[in-house]
Amino acid sequence: MTSTLTSAAPAVTHDAFPINGTDYIEFYCGNAKQSAHYYRAAWGHQLVGYRGPETGVRDRASYLLVQDKLRIVLTSPMGPEGEIAAHLHKHGDGVHDMAFWVPDARTAYQAAMDRGAQSYQEPTVHRDEHGEIVTAAIRTYGDTIHSIVERTNYHGLFFPGFVPVASPYQPVGTGLKYVDHCVGNVELGKMNVWVKFYEDVLGFTNILTFDDKTITTEYSALMSKVMSNGNGRIKFPINEPAPGKKKSQIEEYLDFYRGPGVQHIAIATDDIVKTVRELRSRGIEFLKVPQTYYDTVLDRVGRIDEDLAPLAELGVLVDRDDEGYLLQIFTKPVQDRPTLFYEIIQRKGAKSFGAGNFKALFEAIEREQALRGNL
Ligand code: FE2
Repeated sequence: MTSTLTSAAPAVTHDAFPINGTDYIEFYCGNAKQSAHYYRAAWGHQLVGYRGPETGVRDRASYLLVQDKLRIVLTSPMGPEGEIAAHLHKHGDGVHDMAFWVPDARTAYQAAMDRGAQSYQEPTVHRDEHGEIVTAAIRTYGDTIHSIVERTNYHGLFFPGFVPVASPYQPVGTGLKYVDHCVGNVELGKMNVWVKFYEDVLGFTNILTFDDKTITTEYSALMSKVMSNGNGRIKFPINEPAPGKKKSQIEEYLDFYRGPGVQHIAIATDDIVKTVRELRSRGIEFLKVPQTYYDTVLDRVGRIDEDLAPLAELGVLVDRDDEGYLLQIFTKPVQDRPTLFYEIIQRKGAKSFGAGNFKALFEAIEREQALRGNL
């Protein structure tokens, strides 16, 4: 690791904002029905639930998809009115909600509000024959929110209003297991504002910092700070653009998303070669690094358990920190706007985020940016 990367996690003695883990990620999209098919066919998620006009919800249709511990909700508006349509009009398809699964939603919401959170939804009880769920929500960067979900007294599928879907179409999974981290892009000068928000309001700590000397290419640079909650299950790196010769990938995102938002979601797998092979065979497009990357990678990271040939064939990147190494790869954007993309990550002890790959990776992103005429 370079000297510009600093690890600054203090020992956690008291979790100021207990979170069990990620509850779900909700996307607002133009055609949730078709997006659901994409995530089933290409990513191997199972469609397990639905809520919409047929189940008594008039203004939207939502599809619940799962793979192992990963749970996503795809939602489309039924007309041009309202917040979902406005979100979609401005941002295109994107992440609206990164929901926290908490032991006590009312206490969590109140604690966040007392420390300066902006409310999106006050605590609300949702009931059906399977019990009750308490939710509240606070705002984070841009139009993104964090729902706060307490499901201790709920034994149904997911949420009142969702009905189970038993489809004969059940493509096999791709080995994706859970959300490892979610990255936000914010405007120049705003990274530390949001770092402070996660520290002050949600009791997160800044576990890693990358300055613009770590993350720099010939053309563009960015700065990033990684925020983690008390138990380490929620990790939110926050990026801001740094001045460079040309437009940085963060600025491109901000231009096309029309403001801050979620840049990428990293999903964990136990076998990245198998997962990426499967995803590629189903049409997922990944960024490629030059083959020269593999000429020197083992000099940099040392011995790894995997054969290098399949990693080089697929374009999987390797990085090491004090505790082990990690394997990672990034998709191209998954909608027409160059906004949200995915990372697939396999951790072999490493707790970091692949800083050693940033240069090779960003050069790959810039080649794509140049193709789009945005560099
Ligand atoms: Fe990442």
